[in-house]
Amino acid sequence: MNNKLIYFKKIGMKELGYLSFFESSKDIPFEIKRIYYTYSIPLGVKRGMHAHKELQQLMWCPYGEIEVILDDGKTIETFTLDSPDKGLLIVRGYWRDFYAKKEGSVLCVAASDYYIEEDYIRDYDEFLKYVEKGYWNDEN
Ligand code: TYD
Repeated sequence: MNNKLIYFKKIGMKELGYLSFFESSKDIPFEIKRIYYTYSIPLGVKRGMHAHKELQQLMWCPYGEIEVILDDGKTIETFTLDSPDKGLLIVRGYWRDFYAKKEGSVLCVAASDYYIEEDYIRDYDEFLKYVEKGYWNDEN
């Protein structure tokens, strides 16, 4: 699995507060074309429920706690974003679900491309067919 947790640089101190940042193509392995964010997610509600054919993403949670579940069609791995200096890099070809674990949690996403509905796979059985035919084999 090429998905991984990364930690952003953290500047500051307890008495003053902190600043974290990342730079396109330097700290993350793609150029950022789009930023979006999800918020006011009621506890217990499942979001996501799709995979991407090509899109790469970095997710981070600047406030609260988000649980992200990644599925390659064979193995499931769960990641917890519970600190503003923590990010999750997601390569293409993973089904993802996510949940807010605390009220008011915010999930931010930096994406490698613009919004392209044709890049989405929103049906789990269709996703499994892509896995079976080895659509992402060269990368994953
Ligand atoms: P979706 O990606 O399915 O949301 P989530 O994975 O967070 O549950 O997107 C929800 C809706 O928002 C869908 O109608 C597409 C639209 N949308 C855009 O128009 N632009 C975007 O950049 C994104 C991410 C979604």
